[in-house]
Amino acid sequence: MNAIEINNVHKHYASLHALKGISLEIQQGEFFGLLGPNGAGKSTLISIMAGLTQASRGSVSVMGHDVVQAYRQSRHSLGIVPQELVYDPFFSVRELLRLQSGYFGLRHNDDWIDELLDTLNLSDKANANVQELSGGMKRRMLIAQAMVHKPPVLVLDEPTAGVDVELRQQLWEFACRLHNDGHTIVLTTHYLEEAEALCERIAIINRGEMVALDSKQALLARCPERKLTLTLSDTGSVLPASLEQDVISRDDRQLVIKLDKQQGNVGDILSAVQSSGAQLIDLHIEEPGLEEVFIELTRQQHGQESTDD
Ligand SMILES: Nc1ncnc2c1ncn2[C@@H]1O[C@H](COP(=O)(O)OP(=O)(O)O)[C@@H](O)[C@H]1O
Ligand SMILES: [Mg+2]
Repeated sequence: MNAIEINNVHKHYASLHALKGISLEIQQGEFFGLLGPNGAGKSTLISIMAGLTQASRGSVSVMGHDVVQAYRQSRHSLGIVPQELVYDPFFSVRELLRLQSGYFGLRHNDDWIDELLDTLNLSDKANANVQELSGGMKRRMLIAQAMVHKPPVLVLDEPTAGVDVELRQQLWEFACRLHNDGHTIVLTTHYLEEAEALCERIAIINRGEMVALDSKQALLARCPERKLTLTLSDTGSVLPASLEQDVISRDDRQLVIKLDKQQGNVGDILSAVQSSGAQLIDLHIEEPGLEEVFIELTRQQHGQESTDD
């Protein structure tokens, strides 16, 4: 059984076709990345998984439970950390976690609540009113809330947007720990380095359409190009014609050249520069990352109407 199955899901908001037939299977125990620029439809897809929004067409199940037909069971299998910091301001942290436990029919959940508070460094805020918490603490509170019923699948919707470096590190560690314990993690983010560091498999959606679904390695391999940037006293006629075809950009001081993956034309380039008499001031090589793949994949549809079919 898959942790999550998404089968040809469409979503219309009035005239906006926000999801255009998304299909996706996420295996149990995977650390899965759902990437896409703002407005791609990531949060909409997550709301459908959580049963908060209904798909216009298609179906979704969580741990084998259809999110509409078997709402209670599917909801029990899923913990969702929402993108927005939504919370009820009139309760303390512990009260909110108890309420959430009650919602899942768990009456004596204090041991687990204490463990969550401890793990998320919130123990000393247990009795504080949620309103008094800093943004980072609220974020951690929402994670505790998502985990209160020990769901096998945890979905984090942009958990590190606007979060400081230290908290980001803590959240990563927490997610990795849950993953090592066997949880399925779905992470939505538009920080590419985050997905690159954590996720095993990645889907990229853009304007409601899936533009890539692959392992991280396979995605990175799509962009084998390395770039050499040379800072020179003169960039005019340093290269022979045979190397000119690899030039990506040039201004009066900098020359950016595509490097061959296999042969490595670095030697040729450098000796050409040397014999041209131009002075080499600096150089660096840029390794491609998910960022380049992402830009390439999401660029292709740029400018199209998002209401297209
Ligand atoms: N409740 C809603 N009503 C109308 N349009 C919405 C609603 N929620 C999202 N949208 C629109 O659907 C598209 C996808 O939004 P969203 O799922 O939030 O994207 P993402 O999370 O990838 O940034 C956007 O164009 C957004 O404006
Ligand atoms: Mg979103």
